[in-house]
Amino acid sequence: MCGIVGYIGKKNSKEVILKGLSRLEYRGYDSAGIAVHSNGINQLKTSGKVADLDAKCIKEKLPKSSIGIGHTRWATHGIPNDTNAHPHQDITRNFTLVHNGIIENYLTLKKYLAQNGIECKSDTDTEVLVQLISYIYNKDKISFEESVRYALMKVVGAYGIVVLCGDEPDKIIAARHGSPLVFGIGDSEFIIASDTSPIIEFTRKIVYLDDAELVVFTRDDYYVKSILENHIILKTVNEIQFSLNQIEKNGYDHFMLKEINEQSNSIAESMRGRIIIDEGRIKLGGLQEAIQDILNAKRIIITACGTSWHASLIGSFVIEELVRIPVNVEYASEFRYRETIVGPDTVLFAISQSGETADTLAAIKKAKSLGALTIGVVNVVGSSIARETDHGVYIHAGPEIGVASTKAFTSQVTVLNLIAILLAQAKDRNIKEVANLVNDLKLLPEKVELILKQSKKIKSIADNYIDAENFLYLGRGYQFPVALEGALKLKEISYIHAEGYPAAEMKHGPIALIDENMPVVFIVNEKGYEKIISNIQEVRARGGKVIIVTSIDQEELHEYSSHVIHVPSIHQCILPILTTIPLQLLAYYLAKAKGCDVDQPRNLAKSVTVE
Ligand code: M6R
Repeated sequence: MCGIVGYIGKKNSKEVILKGLSRLEYRGYDSAGIAVHSNGINQLKTSGKVADLDAKCIKEKLPKSSIGIGHTRWATHGIPNDTNAHPHQDITRNFTLVHNGIIENYLTLKKYLAQNGIECKSDTDTEVLVQLISYIYNKDKISFEESVRYALMKVVGAYGIVVLCGDEPDKIIAARHGSPLVFGIGDSEFIIASDTSPIIEFTRKIVYLDDAELVVFTRDDYYVKSILENHIILKTVNEIQFSLNQIEKNGYDHFMLKEINEQSNSIAESMRGRIIIDEGRIKLGGLQEAIQDILNAKRIIITACGTSWHASLIGSFVIEELVRIPVNVEYASEFRYRETIVGPDTVLFAISQSGETADTLAAIKKAKSLGALTIGVVNVVGSSIARETDHGVYIHAGPEIGVASTKAFTSQVTVLNLIAILLAQAKDRNIKEVANLVNDLKLLPEKVELILKQSKKIKSIADNYIDAENFLYLGRGYQFPVALEGALKLKEISYIHAEGYPAAEMKHGPIALIDENMPVVFIVNEKGYEKIISNIQEVRARGGKVIIVTSIDQEELHEYSSHVIHVPSIHQCILPILTTIPLQLLAYYLAKAKGCDVDQPRNLAKSVTVE
């Protein structure tokens, strides 16, 4: 959450920072701010989006400068207004700072500062840190760098920060603990940001900052230090793996629509080079050394949040069906605080698009500390989860910018199927079934295309439900997680209240909600067909409007519903990939018709780096 950019070089930093912030806006978009060095620190902030900040910079003539920092906020402490927007300045106006994360002991620090005559102006946790840096600097008469380091040693919580000091106008200091920061090394320029998207235009050479590290940039050099031990750390320079084109809208109205339409390609990318065609075997380089440990494990846990949790649930069903090993799926936010039974004979899979989700990262750290083997299934290359886990498989879906996750979900399910097949093959289990699944996996991209061709039809279905206030999504077996995912997509971008349930659970409560105003989406597959037909009848008997998404070609389904969306049939383990796509489109067209901000839905952020 929150996007940070810092720049030092030869260019006008305002241009670099505002462009960078607009690329990071998916991380938070309730307020934005910028500070540049030009005869002291010049700073502008505003509630609203980066475009509002841009307008303010023009109106108030922000001076040209080749060094500056910027921020786009997702509020934690304090409402989104101009005062609470970042950057935050100390009372002497010598320091200014942008921050992503939460300073958990900010009230203690605030009290300490107040006792020493320093009152904070904002409601944020962040301001406390900049005041503390300034207080230490003035009291102890030590350098900018040392003041930042000492202040950070007093902080409990998570931070990614970038700081400017008026007394040292040719320097930027950044530090990280728990919130991501990466910097790009250009030609006599450095750019530091929350992720690589603002960097790619300037350089492909990047360095990931690790926890408890601080970096100092001068005009032509940089060094990384340990915050605690104060020694120099030699960092590896990596290459950005994606192209600029992949993070542009390329003519689509929204990133979400672009990403939905990319799915036949992103799924193919997730499988590329991983199915050995002649043998029908699966090869996942990052898992090779872990296979025996997984098969010998007493407990397998999959942990994740949100959409990634839904993909995990499908993954657990597939592993249990094909490999016959019990798998538990845990919300990372619950797992980390529960007295879970985890030990050296546990394998923990962590599924995450961003690779930065704070709860998932904390769950991994907890499992590791208890001796478990950890495996990441991640999209963003070089992300914290990818680096924290013992082994891993990238899903290779390509950059996902839309806040509502779409192509990452279908790639996660694809890769979890590959993992299950790999394990089943290593165990010599369900050989025939597995061979059928491998054959069907190869057909996925073309079948996805057939669904995308129905976009117009799905849009016209959506047009009927613009005034709906609630939706119910029901599915059985493999389609139950799809029901959860369909409901999540709808509520997060259209703000229509929606719930996903196992279809048979409806009669245990949710049926009370059904009347002629309640659209109910049934995801119907072969297993349990007769049973789900009964559930459909129960909804019809109470006047509910039925929408069916199905791979089954049965005339009666048209009779029982207002709309039927057909998807091609395929092995049941990967059918959720196909049945989810119409639900993504339904949510998209409903949100669009309602005039909602599809790519930046209210209150949300793409990468949830706070607890
Ligand atoms: O990056 P992650 O996969 O770890 O993110 C997990 C959730 O925050 C994420 O899936 C969220 O639920 C999305 N907004 C869903 O569209």
